[in-house]
Amino acid sequence: MFTRSPGLPRAAGGTGAEVFDVDGRRYLDGSGGAVVTSIGHGVTEVVDAIAEQARRIAYAHGTAFASKALDDYADALAPLLPFDDPRIYPVSGGSEAVETALKMARAYHLARGEDRHVIIGRQGAYHGNSRGALDVSGRAGLRMPYRPWLGAAWHTSAPYEYRCPAPDHPTGCGAWHAGRLDRMITEEVAAFIAEPVAGAALGACVPPDDYWPAVAAVCRQRGVLLIVDEVMTGFGRTGRWFACEHWGIRPDILVTAKGAASGYWPLGLAVCTAEVRDTIGAFVHGFTYSHHPVGAAAGHAVLKVLQDQDLVAAAEQRGRDLAQALRDRLADHPAVGDIRGIGLLQAVELVADPESKKPFARADQVAEKVVAQAKESGLLVYHSTGCADGRDGDLLLFGPPLVITETQVAELADKAAAAIRRVRGR
Ligand SMILES: Cc1ncc(COP(=O)(O)O)c(C=O)c1O
Repeated sequence: MFTRSPGLPRAAGGTGAEVFDVDGRRYLDGSGGAVVTSIGHGVTEVVDAIAEQARRIAYAHGTAFASKALDDYADALAPLLPFDDPRIYPVSGGSEAVETALKMARAYHLARGEDRHVIIGRQGAYHGNSRGALDVSGRAGLRMPYRPWLGAAWHTSAPYEYRCPAPDHPTGCGAWHAGRLDRMITEEVAAFIAEPVAGAALGACVPPDDYWPAVAAVCRQRGVLLIVDEVMTGFGRTGRWFACEHWGIRPDILVTAKGAASGYWPLGLAVCTAEVRDTIGAFVHGFTYSHHPVGAAAGHAVLKVLQDQDLVAAAEQRGRDLAQALRDRLADHPAVGDIRGIGLLQAVELVADPESKKPFARADQVAEKVVAQAKESGLLVYHSTGCADGRDGDLLLFGPPLVITETQVAELADKAAAAIRRVRGR
């Protein structure tokens, strides 16, 4: 989308889980934009921290200077990461963090004298829009126009329980996916990248409990680095600091962004183990805005708010409330196939026929229509399409700020249900 997009309201302000436009209309932020806003809008401590750091020094190139802002942030963050001794590489967003992680994996194997270069991603995954990140992504619609540029990455199946192809579903699905990954691995494979809980593209798909332990074991046994993409799920969104903690997984590399700075600054992080970092040695990589001191100040201030307000625990509790509220209002609606998620990452999959799970035809634009109706009623919802087969499949995604109140959760579910009814009846 270029600037000056016609038809969009102009955002004027926001506070907590509410956004206001220039005409004074109020919107309940049901998705934190693209599941970005974690601590809510209008938090002045974060704005003050940004201003204070910018006043001191706004920019210093990462190759020339370290900064107190970065060191302090790294010290505060390290104990919360699922690593014993993490090494943190700060960048400007999710796609940059993914590109950094892919290069780390390649550099690690090269340093060990192994020409491993293939990254395995998952079908239906989203890891970003830059070329490397798009290649490891598995969203057919996004990849299509750029296919001549892609193809270095391979893709395996993702745990998508609502449409699971495993022969013994719902038993042993995790082991089945892990077996497929295992059979795909050759000595060319450097890393496996996946979202612990599939985010927008497959709609808050929580894997079965046997999935992650089995997949992590395959990676370890086959000398393949495990990269977990926590761009959407990190920093408390799922009710844990990082979603991989739900299954006790210790990755080799983790990428995160979005909630890290809650939209107050474009911040992403690629984190690896000390072993990966030490093996790589000199890492020939970097961006102009990597290691940004103002970004570090923003991330640190957001982290303090998450801790001081106990927002990770809040995400778990409000997430349960939201899941229940959506089920109460929508479980028996004939256009609702599945309601799923974890913490404050919840999704509704809309289908033409819940019995056969047949999706709506893409031309019907059902998700887009529901989102428009919701916005009309003052609710902001995120959506995605193509979950069923790469083209068809309509998802509504809910990822409100973690500060959303109980009353606002009820309002969100009421308005979402009303929007679905306005588009699909009943
Ligand atoms: C799981 C995941 N990875 C990577 C990205 C890319 O992040 P960004 O848009 O900040 O480049 C996204 C963005 O939605 C994401 O959800």
